Amino acid sequence: MAKPVVFITGGGRRIGAAISTMLMEAGYFVLIHVRNSLADAQAIIDQYSNLNDGDVGGDIVQADLLNDDIINLIDTIVNHPKVVEYGGLFGLIHNASVYQPISFDELTFEEFKKNFTIHVEVPFLLTKGLYEQLKAKSGSVIGLVDTSQGRAWQDLTHYTASKNALRQMMINLAGDLQPHVRVNCIAPGAIISAAWEIEHFASVLEKVPMGRSGEPKDIASAAKFLLESDHISGQIINVDGGWTLVE
Ligand SMILES: NC(=O)c1ccc[n+]([C@@H]2O[C@H](COP(=O)([O-])OP(=O)(O)OC[C@H]3O[C@@H](n4cnc5c(N)ncnc54)[C@H](OP(=O)(O)O)[C@@H]3O)[C@@H](O)[C@H]2O)c1
Repeated sequence: MAKPVVFITGGGRRIGAAISTMLMEAGYFVLIHVRNSLADAQAIIDQYSNLNDGDVGGDIVQADLLNDDIINLIDTIVNHPKVVEYGGLFGLIHNASVYQPISFDELTFEEFKKNFTIHVEVPFLLTKGLYEQLKAKSGSVIGLVDTSQGRAWQDLTHYTASKNALRQMMINLAGDLQPHVRVNCIAPGAIISAAWEIEHFASVLEKVPMGRSGEPKDIASAAKFLLESDHISGQIINVDGGWTLVE
């Protein structure tokens, strides 16, 4: 029997890698989108295969979401042999992201738009372009957002504005796509720091009620739960160790 197919953007490293790995281990065929992390994605597929008698748990799809034609990417997914064999898509996970602070003085409109392209326009285009495949399998969409809603994160206007646009778009789509396709979000707290925020990350962890960072597998568990929860749509799960309770 064909495995249910899930497509994840930016699924080759960090949190995306944990989601790709956990879903493969759970029996999904994972289409791992990458821009640069080809070797990391191949390692996930190889590791799964080595541990499972040569079974193939996924494939890699490469595209630069800022510069390549998203229509070609959609065509690749729609016509992928595993999607055709399964008869659609069980999941679409918008995980790819950019996250770099830029002071308001230095923030250009180009950079602002780049954040909206990767966090809002690409998820919109992929959701629209893959809707029929998702609908065919009563699938679901998951957006990776964050806990910045209603807060001012220093020098991150471009990032927080676009991530919260994604959050609202997902909630609105949960209404528009019902009852055929469920749409939910995961809002990670402090999980893996970016290279530029190591000190800030440590100060955040002092406030987190659970007293530690989350792990990528915590986000992966939430993704698996949402994919498999037939009666949940329009929800945002904070996976943040209680951070939003205290800030
Ligand atoms: N890390 C955290 O603690 C945290 C906290 C809150 C929210 N989140 C959210 O959780 C998700 C995963 O977090 P993360 O830290 O693992 O993400 P990340 O490392 O910042 O980015 C994930 C992937 O996005 C891909 N990407 C970036 N620009 C791209 C482009 N132009 N075209 C195609 N792909 C591109 C990269 O793929 P390649 O490597 O293949 O180039 C990268 O590996 C993100 O949506 C993030 O906003 C994370």
